[in-house]
Amino acid sequence: MRTYNIAVMPGDGIGTEVISAGCELLTAVAKAHGFGFKFEHFDWGSDYYRKHGVMMPEGGVDRLRPFDAIYFGAVGDPKIPDAVTLWGLRLAICQGLDQYANVRPTRLLPGLKGPLRPELGAGIDWVIVRENSEGEYAGVGGRAHAGLPLEVGMDVAVFTRGGVERICKFACDLARSRPRKKLTIVTKSNAQRHGMVFWDETCKRVIADYPDLEIDWMLVDAMTTRMVLKPGTIDTVLATNLHADVLSDLASAVAGSLGIGATANLDPSGAGPSMFEPIHGSAFDITGKGIANPIGSFWTAAMMLDHLGEPKAAAAVMQAIETVTRSGKVMPPDLGGSSGTKDVTKAVLDALQGAL
Ligand code: NAI
Ligand code: MG
Repeated sequence: MRTYNIAVMPGDGIGTEVISAGCELLTAVAKAHGFGFKFEHFDWGSDYYRKHGVMMPEGGVDRLRPFDAIYFGAVGDPKIPDAVTLWGLRLAICQGLDQYANVRPTRLLPGLKGPLRPELGAGIDWVIVRENSEGEYAGVGGRAHAGLPLEVGMDVAVFTRGGVERICKFACDLARSRPRKKLTIVTKSNAQRHGMVFWDETCKRVIADYPDLEIDWMLVDAMTTRMVLKPGTIDTVLATNLHADVLSDLASAVAGSLGIGATANLDPSGAGPSMFEPIHGSAFDITGKGIANPIGSFWTAAMMLDHLGEPKAAAAVMQAIETVTRSGKVMPPDLGGSSGTKDVTKAVLDALQGAL
């Protein structure tokens, strides 16, 4: 039997709640489609930090290399600075495994309304491609004159030719695989006249090889208004690490809730494992209440199944999610209902059985 080895890292807060629900779903869908999962659990995260002073052990990234994929929850703790938790685990993994393409699909799932007028909401069917290895989050910078009036803090945005070329090529290939063959490249080269101009120039060279694509360019600030006012004109989007981080939260909001968004951190070369995670964070405000929406982690599971080469299982998961959202009977609080994580999970599992 085909068996996939998955590193499961629930992390912090509601990460643990939604990832255990996701593993339940993955086990069920694998059984129905004649393959299996071997999950190995990693307790890395903020509790690990409290015990050991680090978010993951030394050599942690290397321990992940042999896996077929990583299924990740969230990191973040009210008592530990976010820069420590994020850099100590999630960014360390993404950068260490060169998962340079972050992919975030956004769609208004059936039955969900979202905050936009219905005719606008219906137009949302996007994939945002985020450069995930450098740019504004390269980690290059420093502090000087500590404690003095002159004190300074700097983050330098890093754009390399190789880095921009590979993500632009990835976005073009993805746009080409979608029916509309349409790509929007987001920039801010009017104000940032070095790195962003280099980004534009490098992307222009790459897109010359894709004459079949319809490509347009947007400044990031204007892109926010287009996402809200003309969502139907957007299909595939390429943006830098920072810009896409911001745009994709907006994307999940217009699609109904942060609780449904899914994302993949891909190493398209296949040299190492890719990592799949719901886009939300650890959500301290609802941790332990049993009301976290697990749909983001289910959609994430579907992306992982696709990546593993199980498109039928992936489609079955999406169909089950949509059956539940369409009926609207079992909805978590962030989508206007009152059902808990367990009830939503059960509803999706039942829908999955019905769909098989
Ligand atoms: P958040 O995503 O944790 O929460 C924002 C709001 O959305 C909260 O009101 C929360 O209750 C709600 N929410 C999020 N996911 C939900 C779900 N599945 N079901 C229902 N409601 C949901 O973002 P926030 O509050 O900015 O950050 C909290 C912590 O998470 C911070 O430490 C932050 O650094 C971390 N974080 C980690 C991420 C990651 O690991 N990839 C991503 C974003 C934030
Ligand atoms: Mg974010």
